[in-house]
Amino acid sequence: MFGCPLPKGGHFTEYNLSKSQSKLYCLMKKKCFHSNKVLGFRSVIASNRRVFCGSGSNWGQSRVPSVNWVEKNNKFLSLIANVASNTRNHSSSVESRVNENSFEKIYIQGGFKPLVIEKIEEGQDLVGKDKGIEKEHKSKVDDAANASTDQFGKAEVLESNPERHLSKVEKEAWKLLRGAIVNYCGNPVGTVAAADPADKQPLNYDQVFIRDFVPSALAFLLNGEAEIVKNFLLHTLQLQSWEKTVDCYSPGQGLMPASFKVRTVPLDGRVGEFEDVLDPDFGESAIGRVAPVDSGLWWIILLRAYGKLTGDYALQERVDVQTGIRLILNLCLSDGFDMFPTLLVTDGSCMIDRRMGIHGHPLEIQALFYSALRCAREMLAVNDSTKNLVVAVNNRLSALSFHMREYYWVDMKKINEIYRYKTEEYSTEAINKFNIYPDQIPGWLVDWIPETGGYFIGNLQPAHMDFRFFTLGNLWAIVSSLSTPKQSEGILTLIEEKWDDLVAQMPLKICYPALEHEEWRIITGGDPKNTPWSYHNGGSWPTLLWQFTLACIKMERPELARKAVALAEKRLPVDQWPEYYDTRYGRFIGKQARLRQTWTIAGYLTSKLLLDNPQLASILSWNEDYELLENCVCGLKSGRRKCSRLTTRSHVTET
Ligand code: GLC
Repeated sequence: MFGCPLPKGGHFTEYNLSKSQSKLYCLMKKKCFHSNKVLGFRSVIASNRRVFCGSGSNWGQSRVPSVNWVEKNNKFLSLIANVASNTRNHSSSVESRVNENSFEKIYIQGGFKPLVIEKIEEGQDLVGKDKGIEKEHKSKVDDAANASTDQFGKAEVLESNPERHLSKVEKEAWKLLRGAIVNYCGNPVGTVAAADPADKQPLNYDQVFIRDFVPSALAFLLNGEAEIVKNFLLHTLQLQSWEKTVDCYSPGQGLMPASFKVRTVPLDGRVGEFEDVLDPDFGESAIGRVAPVDSGLWWIILLRAYGKLTGDYALQERVDVQTGIRLILNLCLSDGFDMFPTLLVTDGSCMIDRRMGIHGHPLEIQALFYSALRCAREMLAVNDSTKNLVVAVNNRLSALSFHMREYYWVDMKKINEIYRYKTEEYSTEAINKFNIYPDQIPGWLVDWIPETGGYFIGNLQPAHMDFRFFTLGNLWAIVSSLSTPKQSEGILTLIEEKWDDLVAQMPLKICYPALEHEEWRIITGGDPKNTPWSYHNGGSWPTLLWQFTLACIKMERPELARKAVALAEKRLPVDQWPEYYDTRYGRFIGKQARLRQTWTIAGYLTSKLLLDNPQLASILSWNEDYELLENCVCGLKSGRRKCSRLTTRSHVTET
């Protein structure tokens, strides 16, 4: 249903629905009436589906806050971020918004999540001349100016030079990025992973991947185009609640898909009518059938970025969006068998989405988890139903940062300590807590680790440290302040020192070094796509450039990012924007790399935009939070048993 008359009573029933039970429908009639305010979605209620709403009463009566319309603005905009110290009381604002604004909505009976998407007028942006948002946001900033513990950025949008000069390469990149846009019911909702017209076998690269869309979203937002990002956030939110099964087993309710595809298909038994189908993949089609743990984390990160860059905080305050955040958090924070605050996941549950020996507690997931928790802490409405969750988020942040800073960090000094570790230590006072055998220090590392600088290792398990350098996790440790300021500097120092290994001819290596020989055979299972120095196994991924740029700007080292961007800029357009490069120094276009890979293009554009507007990078990253460092829930501050954090030998909380 897309603005078409509602079925009787305004509710969808199973009668109206087509057979498939895992798809989001939008009926497109040739003369479909487009409602101005609401995009409705056909949906399916599975008889065995659990009632969705966690908080009880909100669903049946929820109202969606009204949309602030903006005038069309085709000009280039620059966003000037004024970071204002500000605490907003979400609890009252969400509730009052929900009750005050009567906004047309559609929901499914039976306690299921209301399916409501606001219509954004075609061609209009939320950024720019959206006085409503600016005014509303300004008053919030003013109201709370004195009571701050958290920092909220205030994005003021100013029109900059409309003639802003774009290089030939940038122009080409914008054209390609726009060419990758996917529409759903006539509205942009994302970008395909790769749009190479010569590719006869796109596999799933014609889908919108959640993680791949993040740099596209940032490029659009930084360019003053918010509509596509808002649509993406809301549509993927709807997919979150969808039924997903692999051989009759369902994963948790908060799981976000790895990707989705929009299909336009003829409507069963109705000649001349078509429907747009939003078809998510939660890992049930993906190679390896792995649940994408990072999708929900990226979704939360993007939601916060959207608010920061547009000033449209109403989106994150919506009841359905708040529930989406909570479902993701519940899934991540649920009790299990874990002894560590890190998230336990399977191999391939993130950007590296096939077997690469990163099961357990891989750095990438931990860094994104930490970032998402920091985002959620800012965005969660605090009320009776969320107060325990907020406490859990704070506790987890505190424990996670300690754990990572203490146990994942290696530098020359730490490796020397490990080299001299005693093993088989029993008791809570043990120094070698994970029983790491010094023999595990790989030969390459002994000579590789520089005198200055350091990094977070890839993974930590009992008797196992994965010493490989994983770029994404290290960069997000910097961006989110998971690492101490000194560690953050150390990571960039190491990248600079090891430039030829980590950047070489194409930024940046996904991990270093590659698994070779027997190790490759055993750990990857002999994966012919992940051969040494290719793809996930030491390949070079230009999309990592935007994350590197963000980290460099945060650490006041933009010149490093510029150097990397200049390298990429020379080759990417000539090579047709490949997905990844192969060989030890990134000299060849990847063996099976897609061309016109969207996140390569968008990563480049986002880097350029961030370098042009470094003040915006600062609202996308976080500073050290001293409250979190103080916070320890164990309560063992004194007495016979001491808090293990206090007895830990090396102190990593320096500033
Ligand atoms: C590959 C990458 C994954 C990416 C996808 C689409 O599977 O490993 O990270 O999301 O391609 O580009």
